Amino acid sequence: MKKTLSQKSLLMTLSVLISISLLILTLLGACSKQKDVNQVGVLHWWTSGGEAAALNVLKEDLEGKGVAWEDIAVAGGGGEQAMTALRARVAAGDSPTAVQMLGFDIVEWAQEGVLADLNTVANENNWDTVIPLALQKFAKYDGKWISAPVNVHSVNWVWGNKAIFDELGLSPPQTWDEFIAAAKKIKKAGYIPIAHGGQAWQEATVFDSLVYSVGGIDFYTRAMIDLDPAAINSKEMQTVFNRLRDIRDLVDPNFPGRDWNLATAMVIEGKAGMQIMGDWAKGEFIKANQVPDEDFLCFRFPGTQEAVIFNSDQFVMFEIEANRRNAQNLMAVSIMDPVFQSAFNVVKGSVPARVDVPDDDFDDCGKKAMAQLTAANNNNTMVGSFAHGHASPAAVKNAMYDVITQFFNSDQSSQAAAQALTDAVGLAVQ
Ligand code: GAL
Repeated sequence: MKKTLSQKSLLMTLSVLISISLLILTLLGACSKQKDVNQVGVLHWWTSGGEAAALNVLKEDLEGKGVAWEDIAVAGGGGEQAMTALRARVAAGDSPTAVQMLGFDIVEWAQEGVLADLNTVANENNWDTVIPLALQKFAKYDGKWISAPVNVHSVNWVWGNKAIFDELGLSPPQTWDEFIAAAKKIKKAGYIPIAHGGQAWQEATVFDSLVYSVGGIDFYTRAMIDLDPAAINSKEMQTVFNRLRDIRDLVDPNFPGRDWNLATAMVIEGKAGMQIMGDWAKGEFIKANQVPDEDFLCFRFPGTQEAVIFNSDQFVMFEIEANRRNAQNLMAVSIMDPVFQSAFNVVKGSVPARVDVPDDDFDDCGKKAMAQLTAANNNNTMVGSFAHGHASPAAVKNAMYDVITQFFNSDQSSQAAAQALTDAVGLAVQ
């Protein structure tokens, strides 16, 4: 059908408009490529009082350098929920600038080929000389730095309420038998012996210490790192489950589902005598203005005094558009700055990832932790925490979580639990 003059002029006008808008978009696009985005989007699970206070040290540090902070908080201790949210974001093509991540999760993301290459800033700042090899094992992949380790936490701690210990004439128990005797004395006095949060990762955190306390570095390595079926399905592992059953009998009836920091609050408030938890718990005591050896006690889980069962929080840097990389590199360099590493870890309850940070600003628990890390590193008694992703990949870790929490919430026998753990690991490693 012939087009009228008015239809022809309309089409002409439209095509001119479209080409002008395309030209504008192209120019805008070209400009935006040059304009850096001075903002970082950070995915993390630090939502408790102490964790948020520590994170604020990083936020304020970056904001002071002109870098805005987009907070992508995903609550859930231990980070499982955060890792699920991360997978969804990356699948949607919306990678954060940086992500709090642990151990083998970092390796698995590196294998996907979606992480940034930080070697330029790493070499400019000599990260290879100041970060322990135990952390570099996870912070580097294929010779490239892909994340910035901010701390070293350890899980084999017990946190005690000083007033309850003093009232009952208790000192920090050094053996399993002393630990049980102290717990029973606390119970008899009307306090909750062990504050616990009934979540799989928390039971797993206790399990870390139990395995080491029963069989030392050799058994822990064979069972939790080598995943040797003969070590997992053993009399020692049955003893581990026996002791986990003893602990189950020392927690209060309202433990199911309780968040870890609410359990810590029970010790802070004098409702419970002890909590078995990583030293992120110390961040809660600090946030509550409590002082070591005056208000609370920090001591190694009995039988693990020689060990540091560690997990390091790292900020993994994802590959992102070129105009966001300057902010990303500035964040990585800021995280690795020794002054920042002291300021952050003093609040977080952990110790610096760098070995060259003085302990001047740390409290007695922090000083103790730093000295013990150096000793454990030198004596080869520093091992990766299974519960926090530093002993085996997530598939194995999560399979073990399921068996351990099933045991804790049932009357399953220790023998059956050891067999179930062996079977679960056997399936997970296939
Ligand atoms: C750990 C993490 C700590 C703390 C804790 C409780 O895995 O390393 O920084 O967040 O979980 O959520």
